[in-house]
Amino acid sequence: MLRGIFKMTEKVPSIRLNSGYDMPVLGLGTYNSFKPNEVGDAVKAAIQMGYRHIDTAWLYKTEPEIGVAVKELIKEGKVKREELFMVTKMWVHCHEPDQVEPACRMSLEALDMDYIDMFQIHFPVPFVDKERTKPTMTDYLDTWRAMEKLVDKGLVRSLGVCNFNKQQLERILKMDGLKYKPSNNQVEITPYLAEEDLLQFSLKNDISTTAYAPFGAPGQNYVSKDAPKLLEDPTIVGIGSKYNKSPAQVILRWGIQRGYAVIPKSTNPARLAQNMDIFDFKLSEEDMKTMLALDRGLRNNFQTFKWKDHPFFPYKD
Ligand code: A2P
Repeated sequence: MLRGIFKMTEKVPSIRLNSGYDMPVLGLGTYNSFKPNEVGDAVKAAIQMGYRHIDTAWLYKTEPEIGVAVKELIKEGKVKREELFMVTKMWVHCHEPDQVEPACRMSLEALDMDYIDMFQIHFPVPFVDKERTKPTMTDYLDTWRAMEKLVDKGLVRSLGVCNFNKQQLERILKMDGLKYKPSNNQVEITPYLAEEDLLQFSLKNDISTTAYAPFGAPGQNYVSKDAPKLLEDPTIVGIGSKYNKSPAQVILRWGIQRGYAVIPKSTNPARLAQNMDIFDFKLSEEDMKTMLALDRGLRNNFQTFKWKDHPFFPYKD
């Protein structure tokens, strides 16, 4: 569901959010162990080639460098703040309602910006500490009520969650006095983890979805060495060769045709460009189905999470 076109001058189409704002369907992911300047350089290269959606989080420790890079480009007249869609997230030790605004202000300060386009609850399970040694029972509905105030104060334009399952989204949608629906749920989605049920529920309820780690996070040490390598999957390679596109491009295109945004990470300018070159072809219905049939429920993230018994842990099955 590609709705609305960002602007004629922009290279990336967007999804119209339930908040009324437009979110480009392609963004740059920035979670990684970066060397100094690496993420800033990637953000600068990406923006100059047409990326407008940048995804970060307090957890990633990339906010300050991204803020500096964006400021430099704005100063050089390469982009305007209002053309960018900046996403960041508050970490698990900030779920207590009175900690939400300070968390948001911490991100605003780190990015050195006046507002955040999309501010998200990073994970539904709350903790006393950022290291996640001691979980709490703070209800994410109470956190959400505090998040809504950030919109009213003009600090944030759209609100979202990450790693929420269908029941958790449903709970927010049904909560008493809900003022702003979540505009986005950011979850791991790959051809091996299609999340079709969650996606259809979200589309039906006008909650946009963003797929993080769309290539299965190759190179991350939490991904099992035995896990099949998505970018080498023969089916995906075969589909790519029909369209003269790489497996990475097929995966991204499959995602946007299913109706969600994708935020692949790269620090390599050639791959940044390749990941943007996905708007000049369309996968056939048959190829879309073949890709969906690769689903095997293979989740890379949160496999070693210590608190899987917590009632708010989203991935119990
Ligand atoms: P690099 O930064 O060297 O380009 P994910 O978003 O699923 O976590 O995947 C990110 C990883 O995939 C990074 O290691 C990145 O490496 C690599 N990557 C990004 N774009 C491509 C591409 N088009 N083809 C192959 N690998 C890619």
